[in-house]
Amino acid sequence: MSSASVASFHAPKCTRVKISALGTYAPPKILTNADLEKLVDTSDEWITTRTGIKERHILEAGLGTSDMAVEAAKRCLAARGIEASELEAIIVGTVTPDMLFPSTACLVQDKIGAKGAWGFDVSAGCSGFIFALQAGAKLVESGAHTKVMVIGADANSRIVNYKDRTTCIIFGDGAGAVLIEPAEEGEIGLIDFVHEIDGSGGPSLNLAAGGSLNPATAETVAAGMHFIHQDGQAVYKFAVRKMADATTRVLERNGVTGPDLDCFIPHQANKRIINATAERLGMNPDRVIINIEKYGNTSAGTIPLAMGTAIEEGKLKKGDLVLLAAAGAGFTVGAALLQWEI
Ligand SMILES: CC(C)(COP(=O)(O)OP(=O)(O)OC[C@H]1O[C@@H](n2cnc3c(N)ncnc32)[C@H](O)[C@@H]1OP(=O)(O)O)[C@@H](O)C(=O)NCCC(=O)NCCS
Repeated sequence: MSSASVASFHAPKCTRVKISALGTYAPPKILTNADLEKLVDTSDEWITTRTGIKERHILEAGLGTSDMAVEAAKRCLAARGIEASELEAIIVGTVTPDMLFPSTACLVQDKIGAKGAWGFDVSAGCSGFIFALQAGAKLVESGAHTKVMVIGADANSRIVNYKDRTTCIIFGDGAGAVLIEPAEEGEIGLIDFVHEIDGSGGPSLNLAAGGSLNPATAETVAAGMHFIHQDGQAVYKFAVRKMADATTRVLERNGVTGPDLDCFIPHQANKRIINATAERLGMNPDRVIINIEKYGNTSAGTIPLAMGTAIEEGKLKKGDLVLLAAAGAGFTVGAALLQWEI
């Protein structure tokens, strides 16, 4: 061994961590069910009954996911009253990066001027935010960092086929960012996570072309392989079963029941999936946050956007016990338990 002493090495320390600020962004352009009736054979009545969605936000041409992430990040920094240069890491959950590389985290870091931060993207479909949240939480919990930004952002309009009525009615664009910092004395913050992946679900929800297996060619474009492919019923069944499973596990191992929760903020994929999960947990419907009618499914953006809605509606305040849950492409599923500290 060299002359370096173990005592001089960086020693990991564990600390409680919390979400200390939130910023959200949805692009101004809106696509309503009436607009979709003009594009595909569908109806407002069908979309509303089967999904709960009325309208979704669409990112304007010429912009990418990183631009929405940047807006959310700036609002998050402003809410906390700190400069981008104080961020130590940026983690972005997304499946619609501006490009295959560099990562969206790199693009955001540069655009907001977070000099000195490192970071990376998390590809976990609609569980992207919740997976990134655990990664960010552990960076702070371990003592490695004190200010980590976690962003969930997706521009689904870029990968949706507006001739396919089974998918184009569901998806929208949006982003949200949270800051993770050490908790103050007496605060609890992030408590626990239960996450799982099941790659056997890949064929049911994917985007086949543009990667190393099927690089972009005139043929892949002609075959529509750059659009979302989804077996809606398979995804629906997985989401209902596994969101109930993950949420039950995280609650049980922390001695909490559904009625103990002040607020349930689920991924917004389908109102029926949300209601089925909430019912299984015995949740009071008043405490379940649903904003799918305004945004549709924004993939990794849904949970932070729904946090924003919960605050606006007066349903999320400091000290509340909160459950988050999501399921998505992969398949992926996750649940998080936390105390809200803002
Ligand atoms: C996609 C989804 C809304 C479809 O709802 P569903 O109740 O399962 O509907 P089905 O697929 O059984 O289709 C029922 C009928 O409606 C039709 N249909 C499908 N989309 C339609 C639309 N937009 N408008 C009108 N009819 C439509 C189907 O063709 C089918 O017709 P058929 O009975 O004549 O064959 C639902 O499966 C879902 O939400 N899945 C999960 C999707 C998801 O969460 N994805 C994101 C990842 S988290």
